[in-house]
Amino acid sequence: MVVLDRDTVKVPGLGVVRAETLVARIGRRWTVGGRSFLVLTPSIRDTVNSVSRKAQIVGPKDLPALVWNTDVKPGDFVIEVGSGSGAVTVVLANAVGPEGRVVSYDLRSDFLTRARENVAAAGLSERVEFKVGDPRSEIAERDADAFIVDIPDPWEAVRAAEKALRPCGHFASYSPNVEQVNRTVASLRARTFVEIRTVEIIEREIEASESGTRPSFAPLGHTGYLTFARSVLETL
Ligand SMILES: C[S@@+](CC[C@H](N)C(=O)[O-])C[C@H]1O[C@@H](n2cnc3c(N)ncnc32)[C@H](O)[C@@H]1O
Repeated sequence: MVVLDRDTVKVPGLGVVRAETLVARIGRRWTVGGRSFLVLTPSIRDTVNSVSRKAQIVGPKDLPALVWNTDVKPGDFVIEVGSGSGAVTVVLANAVGPEGRVVSYDLRSDFLTRARENVAAAGLSERVEFKVGDPRSEIAERDADAFIVDIPDPWEAVRAAEKALRPCGHFASYSPNVEQVNRTVASLRARTFVEIRTVEIIEREIEASESGTRPSFAPLGHTGYLTFARSVLETL
């Protein structure tokens, strides 16, 4: 399989190929150097899988749930806290479309550099602004449609989320440990958030073959918990 980016494509075992050479072969087999490849355009799943990693990324199992449950859609304004490698940033930038905007914060400029490179490789730079910042202190943005957090202490970002979200805007945090969930939920309950809920996504691959179809033997590994809430002006 060959995955395209904008100008060049790295083909494992073959080297770097100009993208335009491949465009005419999209959806077809391409034989070069005695080897045969199938040329496919990249899906958002392929793009996230090819993100160069400096920090642990949110994986493809959890990313669709993050976007669906926060109702992120074309034209939205989204704030992200904890850019890391930029995997979530890529998915958010893809979801908000050309009219939307993502502001992504990280404490560390080296992580922002990597995230910026990954977003650029996905061709989505124009929709994203990266900022060095710590949401435990004040952030300038207001009227956001969604506020997405992936840092070790997400509960510390809840106050900033409350100020930055528009009424009925969506909060989400991603946390590997249940202790993080407990503290985040307590912080949401102490502020003007409603519809607070936490899920773990369990995805099981099914292997289909002529000799029989059954669940894969691959273990169902834990990744993280997703906590969601909506910001309102007053609670009951
Ligand atoms: C696990 S990584 C995020 C990965 C990212 N969601 C992805 O999928 O590529 C966590 C990031 O949060 C950043 N971080 C930690 N505490 C922070 C804070 N208080 N404010 C902003 N960023 C923070 C770290 O520097 C790190 O880059």
